[in-house]
Amino acid sequence: MRKKIVAGNWKMNLDYAEGISLFSEIVNMVRDEQKGDQLAVICAPFIHLNSLAKLGGATVKIGAQNCHQKESGAFTGEVSAKMIKSVGCDYVIIGHSERRQYFSESDQLLAEKTAIALKNDLTPIFCIGETLDERNNGSYFDVIKGQLVNGVFSLSGEEFSKIVLAYEPVWAIGTGLTATSDQAQEVHAFIRQEIASKYGESIAEGTTILYGGSCNPKNAAELFAQKDIDGGLIGGASLKSRDFTDIVKTFN
Ligand code: G3P
Repeated sequence: MRKKIVAGNWKMNLDYAEGISLFSEIVNMVRDEQKGDQLAVICAPFIHLNSLAKLGGATVKIGAQNCHQKESGAFTGEVSAKMIKSVGCDYVIIGHSERRQYFSESDQLLAEKTAIALKNDLTPIFCIGETLDERNNGSYFDVIKGQLVNGVFSLSGEEFSKIVLAYEPVWAIGTGLTATSDQAQEVHAFIRQEIASKYGESIAEGTTILYGGSCNPKNAAELFAQKDIDGGLIGGASLKSRDFTDIVKTFN
């Protein structure tokens, strides 16, 4: 039984006090809802990492939104995987489309980031997904396969079994234009088949693949009911404690 995950990507939102307030609400609301250890609830803030890791305890885990690809050094403004681990994080989002777009993060760079995250005992949430043009011209399977092959398929089977994937169609992020459950399931099944071809059925069946892109309390249940969708990577809805918790509740 692969792990189910609801992860909130806060992006560049909430000052310190706002983050503490939101997170405290989420922890209290999730505490009553979380069923068993097969569902992991994660929040990915930015400046609040250490404080929230202490507050969240076993109820809500903490992830970072990025890490540098080197262990340490003269990289002003950057944060290392080792630093992230040291403040109590368990996860790190890698390859979010906004990093790929605004910071020109290549597949090769993301492969290096994934490797160093694993080396520092962090679980990478590795993001893949096509643009609207790639969806409309029918090249999205090729794009997603390329992101897998060049981003994470250089990992050993043992290493790969430690990562989480997140399929986030770029055209659905922040747009309110959610992929239909059929569209999402089609791509998730394709991803799982590619994993099976590379690493075998067992690792493929054990890989958690999240959906991200305008997921909200109204559409989460239908999306998460799909055979190959194992939860969500949530943006806007993760900034509202009731919405985020309602998404968590879809697993109850
Ligand atoms: O990483 C999750 C994020 O990209 C999805 O954003 O606002 O469409 O849920 P949103």
